[in-house]
Amino acid sequence: MKKIVVLISGSGSNLQAIIDKCNINYINAEVICVISNNLNAFGIERAKSVGIKTIVINHKEFQSRELFDTELYKILLEQNADLIVLAGFMRILTEKITNNFFGKIINIHPSLLPKYPGLNTHEQVLENNDSIHGISIHYVSSELDGGPLIAQGEIKTANENIDILVERIHKLEHELYPEIIKYICDDKIFIDQNRVIFNGLNPSGKFIYKKYEI
Ligand code: GAR
Repeated sequence: MKKIVVLISGSGSNLQAIIDKCNINYINAEVICVISNNLNAFGIERAKSVGIKTIVINHKEFQSRELFDTELYKILLEQNADLIVLAGFMRILTEKITNNFFGKIINIHPSLLPKYPGLNTHEQVLENNDSIHGISIHYVSSELDGGPLIAQGEIKTANENIDILVERIHKLEHELYPEIIKYICDDKIFIDQNRVIFNGLNPSGKFIYKKYEI
């Protein structure tokens, strides 16, 4: 069984979806540790309540991003995980992490990349009256929200307010992220050189692209 470490900063609803899917053996893996840079992240409570080890590395206690990442790197090495999953982890990682764990770290981002890297993606979709919105799942590289894409999920916008849009995006994340993690844990998706390999999944494009009615 594969070992997963999940990094969070906040509510941890994606973490919860992953834990739930591991518990019913949909994902053939175990979440062995949850790491947060934020002591008050609700995701820490979620992990504790089901007996998963938690580690807080408070970024405010480090003088630089490099020093924070040196500590995070050490702790990640100790976990010896097969897969490191960023699930609402709101820190930019330096090359110490992105290079040394390349191919082992994945991220979920709430936009159809390369549109809207960074923050406030939902606001930008609404401001620009975009007719579609969605999420991206990608391997993490040194480029912010720029690593090789694994999958995207798309929804049609419907003139809704931001709360409803965020809720729909979360629902989509909770479906697609566990599905992709399942494929990675089953060795159906992996990275070779800089290319994502889809072993037996054969997406029609360069990565998996799905349209959702949510
Ligand atoms: C998710 O929507 C995720 O896509 C986003 O943070 C949220 C975390 O929610 N991640 C980013 O914006 C990363 N750039 P959660 O804590 O409830 O899983």
